[in-house]
Amino acid sequence: MIKIQIPATSANLGAGFDALGLALSFYNYAEMEENDRIDISSTDGLDVPCDENNLIYKSVKDLYDVCGKTLKGLTLKQTSNIPMTRGLGSSSACIIAGLVGANTMLGNPLTKDDLVDLAAQIEGHPDNTAPALLGGIVTAVFDGKKVHWVKQEVYTKLKFVALIPDFELKTEKARACLPKEISHKDAVYNLSRAALFSASLLTGKFENLRTAVHDRLHQPYRMELIPNCREVFDIAYNHGAYGVYISGAGPTVMAIVDEENTYFGGKTKFSLDNAGLTGWQVKELYIDNIGTQLI
Ligand code: HSE
Repeated sequence: MIKIQIPATSANLGAGFDALGLALSFYNYAEMEENDRIDISSTDGLDVPCDENNLIYKSVKDLYDVCGKTLKGLTLKQTSNIPMTRGLGSSSACIIAGLVGANTMLGNPLTKDDLVDLAAQIEGHPDNTAPALLGGIVTAVFDGKKVHWVKQEVYTKLKFVALIPDFELKTEKARACLPKEISHKDAVYNLSRAALFSASLLTGKFENLRTAVHDRLHQPYRMELIPNCREVFDIAYNHGAYGVYISGAGPTVMAIVDEENTYFGGKTKFSLDNAGLTGWQVKELYIDNIGTQLI
């Protein structure tokens, strides 16, 4: 059996819609080997599809198909720590687990670039799949077939504190609420902030992050789908976050916080509970610079 560790991801990073994402220190695991039938189980009691509709299985099969190989069956044991439909890249983690697992079982016929491309073709956008595979912060442009990407390792004194609600928001719903067109002015608003985000994160100019996470492409629309979202943003800013944004398609809210702000998590949880928002969990994470690995 091979065992794979795949990180959670946070996409968009505010203004970088479908273009920016980073990997976080929170992991799913998948163990797999070829078999002559499908034998899928979950090690954590989570109710996952145990047939050909399982996303990891489907991604294994996709890679076999691309390589012209037949997949007779698969033994798969999955551990799903990353909460599903919360904006933390759980489906990308499954896709990457399947592709890396399949590629390993076949003796690595595909390169890392091929895997980045194939993952984006399956998911539709690269901002979760690419960092899940590569780690660090990834800037990516997907032309529909190929991903043009740069991965940068980040060594900062920042933590990414995920404020995770107890309700789901499906990506399809969170994309369906977005406008079909935006003004030239709003396009400039976003592209300038997306560029400012990466440059500020990588050079340590953290005082820019509060401006850089603002956007006019998705967050104003998605906030309406996330009850109490504005209040959660305010609480995080009141406790000293540099920047706060909706992680991926939501509903998780991500706060970028100085490592030395030791009590941020505790104070934020206290304020959330005091405001009656007891269903919001607080999870302190760090950037994972390695990405998916066999362990
Ligand atoms: N960029 C994507 C979105 C991430 O915001 O819809 C979720 O897959």
